[in-house]
Amino acid sequence: MAIERLDKLLASQGIGSRKEVSRLIRDGRVKVNETVQQRPEYKVDPQQDTMAVDGEPIRFQRYLYLMMNKPRGVVSASRDPKCPTVIDLVPSQWRRRGLFPAGRLDKDTEGLLIITDDGEFAHQMLSPKKKIYKLYEAKVKGTVGDKEIAQFQEGIVFADGVQCLPAELTVVERGEATVAQVKICEGKFHQVKKMFLAVGCEVIQLKRLKIGELLLDTQLNPGECREIVEIERKLALGQAISTK
Ligand code: URA
Repeated sequence: MAIERLDKLLASQGIGSRKEVSRLIRDGRVKVNETVQQRPEYKVDPQQDTMAVDGEPIRFQRYLYLMMNKPRGVVSASRDPKCPTVIDLVPSQWRRRGLFPAGRLDKDTEGLLIITDDGEFAHQMLSPKKKIYKLYEAKVKGTVGDKEIAQFQEGIVFADGVQCLPAELTVVERGEATVAQVKICEGKFHQVKKMFLAVGCEVIQLKRLKIGELLLDTQLNPGECREIVEIERKLALGQAISTK
């Protein structure tokens, strides 16, 4: 990363707003390379210089990547005038400007969501050209059998004529309701719900389990998140990781 103003850099790391970090700097609470630095405009090189606030070293991260187990009832947006958003659920240690959900889950859908401030990464993950698979588990009203599996395989056509790419449908549990997993590589609006609707089934619960090769961490309760590491980012881009 290029040389940056000290106040801008600290603000980018979620230390506080530009105004708040300027105050910290002027108050002598910030050290650069072990020396107190009281000028907010002082230029630092995040690759070379060490920084500390109140003696706490700042671990510089150009971008942040979080895995969230999205709960039902919140919207996948950065801001919403009426509803709590997934960004409202991000704990304060990870709050920083520019965070957004990479992709969208409906308000009543739960499961794996990646939150980041890296637009290029999100673009790679979401670009229809990349055909990155997403795995969902759906609880549906109605029966799912070989006929529906074949229809998904052929490519569902919505009532409005929109054609979907072939998708893999697997039945996990049969009972009063059916639990099925569906693997798709596109992200049309309400896609999974509309695909089931096209074969006469109503989705009553929907959860995303996987993006590319990245699985939802089962340790995360709904609403919780954790950072993801580089290997996991590659998995989310569908890249196979060699374990050798
Ligand atoms: N398909 C849907 O119908 N809803 C989602 O939230 C995601 C995929």
